[in-house]
Amino acid sequence: MIVMGIETSCDETSVSLVENGRKVLANEVLSQIDIHQLYGGVVPEIASREHVKGITLVFDQAITKAGISYRDIDLIAVTAGPGLIGSLLIGVNAAKVISLNYHIPMLGIQHIAGHIYANQLENEMEFPLLALVVSGGHTELILMHGHFEFQKLGETQDDAVGEAYDKIARILGLPYPGGPRIDALAQTGMDTYHFPRPMLDSPDDNFSFSGLKSHVINAYHNHMQRGQTIHVPDFCRSFQDAVTDVLVSKTLKAAQIHQVKQIIVAGGVAANKGLREKMRSTITDIPVYFPHIRYCTDNAAMIASAGYFKYQKTKQADDYMLNGASRLDLIEKGDPTWQ
Ligand code: KG4
Ligand code: ZN
Repeated sequence: MIVMGIETSCDETSVSLVENGRKVLANEVLSQIDIHQLYGGVVPEIASREHVKGITLVFDQAITKAGISYRDIDLIAVTAGPGLIGSLLIGVNAAKVISLNYHIPMLGIQHIAGHIYANQLENEMEFPLLALVVSGGHTELILMHGHFEFQKLGETQDDAVGEAYDKIARILGLPYPGGPRIDALAQTGMDTYHFPRPMLDSPDDNFSFSGLKSHVINAYHNHMQRGQTIHVPDFCRSFQDAVTDVLVSKTLKAAQIHQVKQIIVAGGVAANKGLREKMRSTITDIPVYFPHIRYCTDNAAMIASAGYFKYQKTKQADDYMLNGASRLDLIEKGDPTWQ
């Protein structure tokens, strides 16, 4: 079964063709980072315009690279939310056009489900499974009892991890997106600033990163006001160690309580080198998987994989009432696992 994935929820226009939820035939990603870098972050209006400009080309590239024709596609899976509404609508409407034209069923996919299924492109999921989702907009611990059976154990009460990375990078004068820059600098630094580890010992599975973010920003300004220089690699390392200590410790605790067979990490921050190393060195008795770096940040292959497994489970496609939604929960109302 060949699934076409379409992802336009933020600043990447991506189209992918994936066979049986696992074999990537093509995964084309047109990134708008260069344009948004000029403004220090994603500008929604510009993002939607860039999706319109690029999407036809990305469709053509994906089809050519996969060496198939539109008639070979069995299902279209498109990100329906959450994300920037103007951007989502470009992908959803493109999906409808192809679906109508070639009589291919179409299925809306929640973006976080996509990030989770990026792991399925390389490793077969085994349940129960714990997913740590860490992206620019989300920080969540999700327990999965089977394919498309999600239970949210906890989430951030304020900022997402990626958001905190990007804001601190901005203060340090690093270009957008800041996460990869801080990660690279942290590799050569040491934890000398000793920032707090928020909610490390809280009894629940929730997170909070806005207090840490403010603490780090205040520390930066205090140093500046006193005319002291910041050792940037140490500063980045100290922030990264604080974040990863919390993520790893809370993930391990939840994994042990729920006796999971696997831990998977998903979302843009899953590309973080420090997080990968700490997860692997700390958690040795439960297998920990990360997607390939190219499938950590937004891409359509993960959406196609999620589409395949959702369709296998529900055998149901969406109708043309499908719409983009800027807010969309992983667990939909009416879903048997909704709670
Ligand atoms: O999943 P994603 O592409 O988009 C969302 O759905 O949000 O994640 C983007 C986020 C950005 O905040 C970016 O700074 C962060 O992932 N990110 C990283 C790294 N690579 C990307 N954060 C820390 N370390 C990295 N290596
Ligand atoms: Zn994402």
